[in-house]
Amino acid sequence: MIALGCDHGGFEIKETIKVYLDNQNIEYKDFGVYNCDSVDYPSIAKTVCDCVVSGECEKALLFCGTGVGMSIAANKIKGIRAACCSDSFSAKYTRLHNDSNVLCLGGRVVGAGLATELVDLFINTSFEGGRHQTRVDQITEIENKN
Ligand code: RB5
Repeated sequence: MIALGCDHGGFEIKETIKVYLDNQNIEYKDFGVYNCDSVDYPSIAKTVCDCVVSGECEKALLFCGTGVGMSIAANKIKGIRAACCSDSFSAKYTRLHNDSNVLCLGGRVVGAGLATELVDLFINTSFEGGRHQTRVDQITEIENKN
């Protein structure tokens, strides 16, 4: 199960990604928003990320104008490793090396085709583990000490 959330800047791209998820028969839970009215993104990031931390959803996709605000907010939540990506290499390697559990995209940055490719890579790439697990553990250690 994938959790989805957006603000007004990410609404349209979220809807585009839902079509991709439907076509792939990937289950998702859409936490909104459901239109382009201006809203504050931090609370949406929190709601969506809580769903990942609780284990109800395996990963999350967050969308705002740049993807940056959502990623900053998401990374404040214990257990979240959010990556803001606008290139395929990063979307793939943040799964392989960082075991990222949240992908943040900017609706004003990426078009529909690239956004779909980034989501596809993020969902279908597995964490490599090994030396990268040690590094992720070190991130968790920093998180736990702060
Ligand atoms: C909203 O205008 C915009 O600031 C927001 O979508 C996001 O880009 C913040 O990082």
